Amino acid sequence: MNLIFLGPPGAGKGTQANLLVGTYGIPQISTGDILRSAVANQTSLGITAKSYMDAGSLVPDEVVVGIVNERLAADDCAAGFILDGFPRTVAQADALGGMLQGAGRSIAHVISFEVDYAVLVDRLTGRRMCRACGRGFHVLYDRPSVEGRCDSCGGELYQRDDDKVETIRRRLDVYDEQTVPLKLYYERASLLRKVDALGSIESVSQSIQNIVASR
Ligand code: AP5
Ligand code: ZN
Repeated sequence: MNLIFLGPPGAGKGTQANLLVGTYGIPQISTGDILRSAVANQTSLGITAKSYMDAGSLVPDEVVVGIVNERLAADDCAAGFILDGFPRTVAQADALGGMLQGAGRSIAHVISFEVDYAVLVDRLTGRRMCRACGRGFHVLYDRPSVEGRCDSCGGELYQRDDDKVETIRRRLDVYDEQTVPLKLYYERASLLRKVDALGSIESVSQSIQNIVASR
């Protein structure tokens, strides 16, 4: 089962991908997590990506396409994958289509997280991420069992640099300009499945599982 999670920053893509990994045993491929890890390790990829990420802009297409191409070839993606935060531009979607076609694979569903932008600032400013495994929590809506520690791996929780109000606004503008056109792109391919992402984490998860189970 090959899935794409499409939605604005803070819509819940990472949270839901994390839950689905446990249910279906397929990996989550988050380009954001891969880039943050490269930044933390100060690799050449990280040095290139940092200024774009800090500004809330997209990292150049060729950079992220290269990352995904390499990641999809790994053994753990053979039975399926969840792409979280990729593609984000029409050029990335075209590149993904080429990669999958070349490998005789296809996308089953593009899950579109439908959410009122008013809730996103609140979700993002209250988010805390695990430094070790990248899992997200929220200070009000998804609290860790032990303050400041990840439930999955015990890692330290931190606040992302780009979860500041000014950067969040820029990320939402970038989403509107560059990523929203992908909804029509995948609707035309009959792959778009809209999910109401305003409900609780559990209810959104149920909606996604219903889609995955029904088709
Ligand atoms: P990335 O890491 O992909 O960030 P994003 O798309 O902006 O998405 P987020 O991680 O902010 O949100 P999410 O939808 O995963 O929400 P979450 O589940 O955490 O990208 C970061 C940067 O990397 C980009 O700006 C860009 O520079 C670069 N980049 C990445 N991919 C790229 C690409 N393909 N091309 C170019 N550049 C790229 O939830 C948010 C919070 O809300 C959490 O605290 C969570 O606990 C809470 N929450 C979740 N669901 C609910 C719910 N139902 N109710 C209440 N609270 C909830
Ligand atoms: Zn963790």
